Amino acid sequence: MEQRAMRGHYAGLAVDYDELWGYEPDYVPWMSGQITEALQLRPNDRIADIGSGTGLFAREVARKLQPRHPLLCVDPSEEMLSRLGRPLPPGLTPVAASAEDIAEDRVHLPYEHLDAVWLKESVHHVADPAHTLQGLADRLAPAGRMLVVMLPGSIQYPLFEAALVRFEELQPDPADIESHLRSAGLETSITHVEHELRLDRDRYLGMVRARYMSLLSTFSDSEIEKGIEEIRFAHPEPVLAFPDRFAFVLGRLRREDA
Ligand SMILES: C[S@@+](CC[C@H](N)C(=O)[O-])C[C@H]1O[C@@H](n2cnc3c(N)ncnc32)[C@H](O)[C@@H]1O
Repeated sequence: MEQRAMRGHYAGLAVDYDELWGYEPDYVPWMSGQITEALQLRPNDRIADIGSGTGLFAREVARKLQPRHPLLCVDPSEEMLSRLGRPLPPGLTPVAASAEDIAEDRVHLPYEHLDAVWLKESVHHVADPAHTLQGLADRLAPAGRMLVVMLPGSIQYPLFEAALVRFEELQPDPADIESHLRSAGLETSITHVEHELRLDRDRYLGMVRARYMSLLSTFSDSEIEKGIEEIRFAHPEPVLAFPDRFAFVLGRLRREDA
């Protein structure tokens, strides 16, 4: 997706973003717990959420972890960052920057090194992931950890066929991301986590119409409406139940390598 289109997409989505994802009360605490556990976060860590968006997950991580150093919410979209809340929730500091800006040292961060970094559903927006992930790995402190949370190569969402096909064309392969982390000198692993989503069908159709995934902004209004009809026909049931499965690509810097 072209940079300008992507920025426009998130600028338009920002206001409703948390509401779109607030449909499942368990989802945000569950995912935040998975991130905390995978990264083995501790209150003394210096942490960054890169591509944090509205801070939906960072807020919950900070609430539970009570970090001693503010957790950095890094995102190039001012509109998404503006939804962090005013006054800012305790323990969060917004940083208007892209993953590339951090990797290339183009923005000043309050910490020279980071103990833990995660990118949740933002790595697909990074133009040159090998280079950028290397730059991010270079900012890790000894024993620092980096987690990329991403959808796998195919998904079982109740979307229309053309969207599922396009998703598979565009989505990076978690195995490639793992190999970039390994080339950046990290010890790596891939695991998967899964959560069953149960959504009111009309609500889900509204989310598709709001283009809740950036992928959907590659379709015109009439294609979206046609797609919604296709979903309606394929799913007459009032509640859609489907697995939301994520790859967790984890990298860890050995203590002596930093
Ligand atoms: C699907 S949203 C995910 C937001 C958040 N991580 C979450 O899971 O709710 C993708 C986010 O990536 C951000 N983004 C786009 N390009 C980026 C880049 N080059 N570096 C970092 N973040 C980027 C967007 O502004 C958007 O907030």
